[in-house]
Amino acid sequence: MNPSRKSQTTAIVTGAGRGFGSAIAAALIDQGHQVVGVARTADALADVHRRLGAAFVPVVADATDAETARTLIEQHQPTLLVLNAGARPATVPVHEQSWESFSQNWHVDTQHAFHWIRATLRHPLTPGSLVVSMSSGAALRGSPLSGGYAGAKAMIRFLASYAADESRRAGLGIRFATVLPQLTPATELGAAGVAAYAERQGIDTATFTAALEPLLTPAIVGAEIARLCGDTGNRDEFGEYQLTGHGLHALA
Ligand SMILES: NC(=O)c1ccc[n+]([C@@H]2O[C@H](COP(=O)([O-])OP(=O)(O)OC[C@H]3O[C@@H](n4cnc5c(N)ncnc54)[C@H](OP(=O)(O)O)[C@@H]3O)[C@@H](O)[C@H]2O)c1
Repeated sequence: MNPSRKSQTTAIVTGAGRGFGSAIAAALIDQGHQVVGVARTADALADVHRRLGAAFVPVVADATDAETARTLIEQHQPTLLVLNAGARPATVPVHEQSWESFSQNWHVDTQHAFHWIRATLRHPLTPGSLVVSMSSGAALRGSPLSGGYAGAKAMIRFLASYAADESRRAGLGIRFATVLPQLTPATELGAAGVAAYAERQGIDTATFTAALEPLLTPAIVGAEIARLCGDTGNRDEFGEYQLTGHGLHALA
């Protein structure tokens, strides 16, 4: 943690065991937050804890569980919530998917966003709190080798907008932002997608990856999400942002 800052507020980050989530946790801790990091794999969370120190509070739990969402919000009273957990989709074309593999991201990504967002409204976060939900660029363009992934991520966009409207109607003052990152080979989930789309195009992964330059890295994701969370001038109740190697850009 930046030694000139002291812990001010608590953030909860789901999917904090690796990839974007652990980078977001690191950037928020550097900004002075305490971060409660949720994932299912204890060893991965222990590694993050070793790297980030006492400001990172590991919680081994399934983020798709409604009771987990309610209890952790009640226990930690976060003013920042980053709903980042997501399943790695089966990267095969639609006719090679089963219904189970096709719907997997609805059961993980969307279900978790639903329970946590619902909990923020029913056990309201304090006014001014921010809920950031991780969607995907696939929600804009589709992802034909990822089953129902694009639709699940599009639903997360709708969910956050519905919640922002309910917060406004009830005068809760909770802010919602949705982030749509571009595909990157820099995480386990993204690397599987890059390999599948490169194979489909009959090119090697290096050639496919070159077309994604400048690459989105976990460090850029962490820095940009922390910037969004720390932007005290932005009091928008709802915002949507694409996230590329150039950083965040508000969607029109
Ligand atoms: N990488 C990309 O190219 C890309 C592009 C657009 C959007 N995204 C989105 O960004 C988010 C992060 O992606 P990533 O690339 O960092 O993925 P990743 O490296 O696979 O990490 C996913 C994290 O989510 C956790 N997780 C999965 N299921 C969970 C559950 N049921 N409960 C709690 N934690 C769970 C995983 O830990 P455990 O398995 O230990 O639980 C892991 O810590 C995802 O929502 C993804 O869809 C990624």
